[in-house]
Amino acid sequence: MKHEFENKKPEAFATTWEGQYEVFNWAEYLIGIPMPILLITTYKENGLPNACLHSWSSFSGEEGGHFCIMGGIPIEYGHTIKDITRNKEFCINFPSREIWEKCYKTIENNKFELDEIVESGLTAEEAISINAPRIKECFLNLECTLEWIKPLYEGSKCCIICGRIKHIAMDDEYFDENKKGRYGESGFIMNIHSPKNPLTGESLDDKLGFVEYK
Ligand SMILES: Cc1cc2nc3c(=O)[nH]c(=O)nc-3n(C[C@H](O)[C@H](O)[C@H](O)COP(=O)(O)O)c2cc1C
Repeated sequence: MKHEFENKKPEAFATTWEGQYEVFNWAEYLIGIPMPILLITTYKENGLPNACLHSWSSFSGEEGGHFCIMGGIPIEYGHTIKDITRNKEFCINFPSREIWEKCYKTIENNKFELDEIVESGLTAEEAISINAPRIKECFLNLECTLEWIKPLYEGSKCCIICGRIKHIAMDDEYFDENKKGRYGESGFIMNIHSPKNPLTGESLDDKLGFVEYK
């Protein structure tokens, strides 16, 4: 049996933290789609590396290029939007489970006067084709140039950033499925963002998901 949901938050959805349904739409918790986890890296205005843990992106391309489409970037605050608007270049870095805790630390270290990559126990390295830092320990780095930025909808607090992938760096242990591989517990990490039961309001904890290749 299918339930139909009008454009209205289910009554059973209580607020777990203040402002929850302003930052995220209730539908994110209802549909519970896992999203790949990555870090967007840029240089701040003072030249220090910036890292933003992120999981609201997808990737698409055709003959003319391959692109990342990143949603959920606040327009009015945060280093990432300022850096991308100013530098028009950024890198997308995919971490594995091994370095997850360090990646999460970038949230605590989200300060203008810090090198957020080094402070979190990771290594910042120069990109090949753009002026943005890469995270050395990430198994896949996508060096991007800004294609366009748009608000999600008129009056939205968030924007969509489209980046053209200019250069790709990938660890050979990861493009070989006989070694570590891209899938399974050593590969791409998915964000399972507190899925909720719309009838009972029960919420599962945030968890990391891994893709099983079958
Ligand atoms: C799994 C996950 C968890 C996150 N948790 C938080 C959080 O607890 N607090 C927060 O402010 N941002 C959180 N974020 C969002 C950003 O990572 C964070 O705001 C970032 O440090 C902003 O960086 P910027 O100012 O350099 O753009 C989370 C993102 C992801 C993908």
